[in-house]
Amino acid sequence: MTKMKKIVVIGGTGLIGSKAVKLLQDAGHEAVAASSRNGINAYTGEGLEAALTGADAVIDVSNMMSFDKAAITDFFETSSRNLTSAERAAGVRHHVLLSIVNADQLTANPYMAGKLAQEEAVVSSGQAYTIVRATQFHEFIETLAGAYAADGVVKVPDIHFQPIAADDVAATLVEAALGEPKNGTVDLAGPERATFKSFIRAYLGSKSDARPVAADAAVDYFGAPVVTGSLVPGEDYIKGRITLTEWLKA
Ligand SMILES: NC(=O)c1ccc[n+]([C@@H]2O[C@H](COP(=O)([O-])OP(=O)(O)OC[C@H]3O[C@@H](n4cnc5c(N)ncnc54)[C@H](OP(=O)(O)O)[C@@H]3O)[C@@H](O)[C@H]2O)c1
Repeated sequence: MTKMKKIVVIGGTGLIGSKAVKLLQDAGHEAVAASSRNGINAYTGEGLEAALTGADAVIDVSNMMSFDKAAITDFFETSSRNLTSAERAAGVRHHVLLSIVNADQLTANPYMAGKLAQEEAVVSSGQAYTIVRATQFHEFIETLAGAYAADGVVKVPDIHFQPIAADDVAATLVEAALGEPKNGTVDLAGPERATFKSFIRAYLGSKSDARPVAADAAVDYFGAPVVTGSLVPGEDYIKGRITLTEWLKA
């Protein structure tokens, strides 16, 4: 029988975090759903010492949605420094961070610059870690369709896309946290790769939204210039199970 462990999920009330907490609890582990509204704040350090006492691993899926580069970088960098130093003080074995595929190549996008700063804070911390870089979530496609819509048309970058379901992301993070630290990065993507345009079209179609979707090589990714492979991993990556069609049906 697997030994029960205490795992602290920073951002445990959010989309990915709440799924990770449930998976851990269902498997018999003690999962702490840490978030600022629960009095555990990675940015200020409030409540961290008590929350981390006796913890085996931390999964960091906290988030701040901003395109202010200084603010987002400060949030991710400071939070990661606070977390990893509190983890070292408490003897926590493993820090698992959720980041984004190719974040290091897309830093003209201020959010990606923040994610890279977050990764670098973890790598340089001295704490044992695994960084899981995921592609965009199925749950994020609606936001993307909205962001690229103007004048009755949705005009998206002319690139490949390989989105993943939040359930697959949460399961991968839980498996990583219970395993050995890689002290490195693994990529995670959905089961199907196609054009960005085709995924947006399929999503809108499922909502009976007939707006035309166009691909344009001049369109960037929130400030970052992109090429065909900018949002998808290389050959070596973990593949999720749930297709967009299955996710839409569910
Ligand atoms: N969207 C995508 O397609 C995509 C793709 C790859 C990776 N990611 C990454 O996935 C991660 C999780 O995203 P998500 O959609 O699950 O986020 P989310 O639903 O917005 O949840 C964010 C969580 O962070 C918590 N939080 C915010 N500030 C905090 C703080 N100072 N201390 C502790 N907890 C804090 C929030 O709770 P409180 O408000 O109570 O603090 C909430 O529980 C993000 O880091 C994102 O970069 C996203």
